[in-house]
Amino acid sequence: MKVLVVGSGGREHAIAWKLLQSNRIKEVICVPGNGGTATLDGCRNLALSIDDHEGIARFALVNNCALVVIGPEQPLADGLADFLQNQDIRVFGPGRAGAQLEASKAWAKAFMAEANIPTAAAESFTSETEALAYVEQMGPPIVVKADGLAAGKGVTVAHSLETAQAAVRAAFDGHFGAAGDRLVIETFMEGQEVSVLAVTDGLTIRPLLPAQDHKPIGEGDTGPNTGGMGAYAPTPLVTPELLQRIQQQILEPAMTTLRQRGIDYRGVLYAGLMITPAGDPKVVEFNCRFGDPETQAVLPLLETPLIDVLLACVEGRLADLPPLQWTLGAAACVVTAAAGYPGSYSKGMAIHGLEAAAESGAVVFHAGTRYEKGQVLAHGGRVLGVTGLGDSFVTAIANAYEAVACLDYEGIYYRRDIGFRVRDLQNVPE
Ligand code: GLY
Repeated sequence: MKVLVVGSGGREHAIAWKLLQSNRIKEVICVPGNGGTATLDGCRNLALSIDDHEGIARFALVNNCALVVIGPEQPLADGLADFLQNQDIRVFGPGRAGAQLEASKAWAKAFMAEANIPTAAAESFTSETEALAYVEQMGPPIVVKADGLAAGKGVTVAHSLETAQAAVRAAFDGHFGAAGDRLVIETFMEGQEVSVLAVTDGLTIRPLLPAQDHKPIGEGDTGPNTGGMGAYAPTPLVTPELLQRIQQQILEPAMTTLRQRGIDYRGVLYAGLMITPAGDPKVVEFNCRFGDPETQAVLPLLETPLIDVLLACVEGRLADLPPLQWTLGAAACVVTAAAGYPGSYSKGMAIHGLEAAAESGAVVFHAGTRYEKGQVLAHGGRVLGVTGLGDSFVTAIANAYEAVACLDYEGIYYRRDIGFRVRDLQNVPE
């Protein structure tokens, strides 16, 4: 089988890497891919833009691709899945209608209200004056979110009125482009955030191992939000009982409501959840795709061939798939970024130490890299995601950092505290 993977991040490298562990997969083609997918055995890059829907469809048809996996949210929100399905190409990832769960936070909030899914109270605004009046009336702490897609950077958790006001003004000043023309302003929720990525065929929905990521750039979870600076799985915060509640109170009602709205959703439903101090799960956000970097921590633990899971979703037979098999133990992914990220950053720096890092036993997933004349160069804000495995979080985290220590490029930055919330917990769930 040939599989085409759309995207160029660490998530797509992890998907390609995992797919290739099955002997059913002859080749993975990444559009446009990165330096990691360019150098992965059995994988090659195709120099097409992810906006080139016709080019992607033509390639998939001419090359008889068994499946197209769409990694990032933007092509899903742009309707790439619908476009391909209309040409009888099998696609893992929801159509434009389902992708609204991520592409519009106001849409998602109305959806959750209809589905009776627990989440923070929220109001949406298209007027700066009204949004400013609202944050003043509600007071801090308060959460200001750009309605549209903003690469994980459109959310401000404001602990002061000044920060909330600045976030409102920045959005209406065009800081997030059209994504900030509407704001959703939410009540602040206390607790710890977890990421439950669930696969679905539109009827059945099954969670993968629950993960946690570190969105802020700074240690101790401080500073502006990024796409994610590190992740680990399975988080001990989500017990089997809690996962069952998440299934019953969040994932299944979401699928029921999607079906009631006539939306055939096949792909990943990613529930970003706050686990409140009382132990209740509440939705922070829904995403319509695999998380990044959560995928780089979750997939290395998956023993069931990924292609079997993806095809079961696409073909509507997830209920018949045997329970997913997982390696016991833990995985931790540490992201290395370019200096300046999530603000402006340089590109083109040569990356050294990739072989030594891989030899240490970790898996080095490339995020923002490109391969040029035999060299791997930095090409994005998040550059690499280094995943360590172990029988406990302590060893998984230590293995990830041992590999990170082998790596170098000008301005390399990474958080040194990935997993600090679980590092001292020994109770890795079985
Ligand atoms: N790690 C957060 C996300 O994938 O949206």
